[in-house]
Amino acid sequence: MQICSKVGVETSLDAARTSARATSATDKLSCFGNCLLVVFCVFGLEAQDHVGKPVPTYVTGDECLFCHRVKVADTWQQNPHARTIWPNEKGEEFVGSKLARPLRRAGYGKFDILEADKKTWNKDKFANRCAGCHTTAVDPATKAFSTTALDCYTCHGVADPNHTKDTALMRFSSKYPKNALEIVSVCGSCHLRGGKSRSSGLPYPNNFVPGDDLFHDFEVDLSQVDNDRHVFTNVRDVLKNGATITCISCHTIHADSSAKHRRVLTGAICQDCHNAEGPKSVVKKHEVHSTLCEY
Ligand code: HEC
Ligand code: HEC
Ligand code: HEC
Ligand code: HEC
Ligand code: HEC
Ligand code: HEC
Repeated sequence: MQICSKVGVETSLDAARTSARATSATDKLSCFGNCLLVVFCVFGLEAQDHVGKPVPTYVTGDECLFCHRVKVADTWQQNPHARTIWPNEKGEEFVGSKLARPLRRAGYGKFDILEADKKTWNKDKFANRCAGCHTTAVDPATKAFSTTALDCYTCHGVADPNHTKDTALMRFSSKYPKNALEIVSVCGSCHLRGGKSRSSGLPYPNNFVPGDDLFHDFEVDLSQVDNDRHVFTNVRDVLKNGATITCISCHTIHADSSAKHRRVLTGAICQDCHNAEGPKSVVKKHEVHSTLCEY
C-alpha cells in the first residue's frame, strides 16, 4: 500500500476542508487531531489537477466494452448512468433516465434544451448548467461535451492499458486501493448538487478527472440538508471525520443496487433514512428534488 507523506496528506485534506466550507478557528483546531488520525489511511490527491486544462485523452466505452463484453456490457445499457441522455426510436434525445426532458442537437457537443413551457428552446442552459454532470468530458474552453451520457471515464478515469495484467492499476477494481477522499470526489463530482466551480463559476466541476481532489476548485456547502441528504452526510463524514464508509460501501454501480448497504455498521448516516430505534424495515419517506436539475 502506498503511503504518502504526512505533509502531502495534510495539505490536500486541508484544501478540501477550507474549500468545502468556511472553516472556523475552532474547526481548524479540532481538525488538527483528525488530520493526524487519517494521515495513514488516505492518499494525497494533490498531485493531479486538471482545472481549466484540456480534456485528457481517454479510452472510450466502446473500447472498454470490447474487452469487458460479459460482466459489464450485458447490463450497461440499462444503467441510469448510461441513460442520462438517451434517444427514442425517432432519434429525439432526452435528459433524465426516468424523467425525460427534450433536447435538440445544436452543433458539436452542444444541445438546446426545451423549457418547462414546452415551447421555448433555450440555447445556453444545457452547456452552462447541465452538461458537466449529464454528459462526458466537457471542454472547459468551449463547454462542448465529447459524448452524451456518462462514459466509463467519468468514474474509472484515464485507464492504464496495463491494468489487464495488474488490475490494481484500474480505479474501482477490487484490488485498487480504497481512498475515501478520492471516491467521494468522483461520485461527488456530480452528486453534490448545489456546488460551484470557483474558477469557472459554473454549477459543475471544471474538467474534473477521477483521481483529482474535487474540493480544490469545487465549492460546496456541506451543511446543506434539503436535497441528496445522505450524500452530503457521507461526504461530510469523510472530509471532516476521516470516515472510511463511502458511496461504494453501500452502492454497487454495475448492478444498480444498494442491497449491500444492509451489511454496513450502523452509524449516524443510517438515521437519514431509518429511525434511531426500532427495526430497520421502517424507512423514512424521502423524495428527491433539485432546483438545479429543475424537477
Ligand atoms: C452538479 C451536477 C449536476 C448538474 C449541473 C445537473 N444535474 Fe441533473 N442530476 C444530477 C444527478 C447526480 C442526478 C441524479 C440524482 C438522483 O438520482 O438522486 C440528476 C438527475 C436529473 C434528472 C432526473 C433524472 C431521472 O430521470 O430521475 C433530470 C431530469 C436532470 N437531472 C436534469 C438536469 C438539467 C436539465 C440540468 C441543467 C439545467 C441538470 N440536470 C444539471 C447532477 C446534475
Ligand atoms: C458511475 C460510475 C461508474 C461508471 C460510469 C462505470 N463504472 Fe465500472 N465500476 C464502478 C464501480 C464503483 C465499480 C466497483 C464495483 C461496483 O460498485 O459495481 C466498478 C467496477 C467495474 C468493473 C469490475 C467488475 C465488476 O462488475 O465489479 C469493470 C470491469 C467495470 N467497472 C467496467 C466499466 C466499464 C467498461 C464502464 C463503461 C461502459 C464502466 N465500468 C462505467 C463505477 C463506474
Ligand atoms: C484490451 C482489453 C481491455 C480493455 C480495452 C479494457 N480492459 Fe479492463 N480488463 C481487461 C482484462 C484482461 C482485465 C483482467 C481480467 C479481469 O479481471 O477481467 C481487466 C480488468 C478490469 C477491471 C478490474 C476487474 C476486477 O476484477 O476488479 C476493471 C474495473 C476494468 N478492467 C475496467 C476497464 C475500463 C473502465 C476500461 C476502459 C476505460 C477497460 N477496462 C478497458 C481487459 C481490458
Ligand atoms: C459524471 C457524473 C456522475 C458521476 C461521476 C457519478 N454519478 Fe451517479 N448519477 C449521475 C446522474 C446524472 C444520475 C441520474 C441518472 C438519470 O436518472 O438520468 C445518477 C444516478 C445515480 C444513482 C441512482 C440510480 C438509480 O437507480 O436511480 C446512484 C445510486 C448513483 N448515481 C450513485 C453514484 C456513485 C456511487 C458514484 C461514484 C462511484 C456515481 N454515482 C458517480 C451522475 C453521476
Ligand atoms: C450507508 C449507506 C449509503 C451510503 C454511504 C451512501 N448511500 Fe446512497 N443510498 C443508500 C440507499 C440504501 C439508497 C436507496 C434509498 C431508496 O431506495 O430510497 C441510496 C440512494 C441513493 C441515490 C438515489 C436517490 C436517493 O437519494 O434516494 C443516490 C443518487 C445515491 N444514493 C448516491 C450516493 C452517493 C453519491 C454516495 C456517496 C457520496 C452515497 N449514495 C452514499 C445508501 C447509501
Ligand atoms: C438513503 C437511504 C438509506 C440509508 C442512508 C440507509 N438505508 Fe437501510 N434501507 C433503506 C431502504 C429504502 C430500505 C428498504 C429497501 C432495501 O432493503 O434496500 C432499507 C433497508 C434496510 C435493511 C433491511 C431491513 C428489513 O428488515 O427489510 C437494513 C438491515 C438496513 N436498511 C440497514 C441500514 C444501515 C445499517 C444503514 C446505515 C449504515 C442504513 N440502512 C442506511 C434506505 C436507507
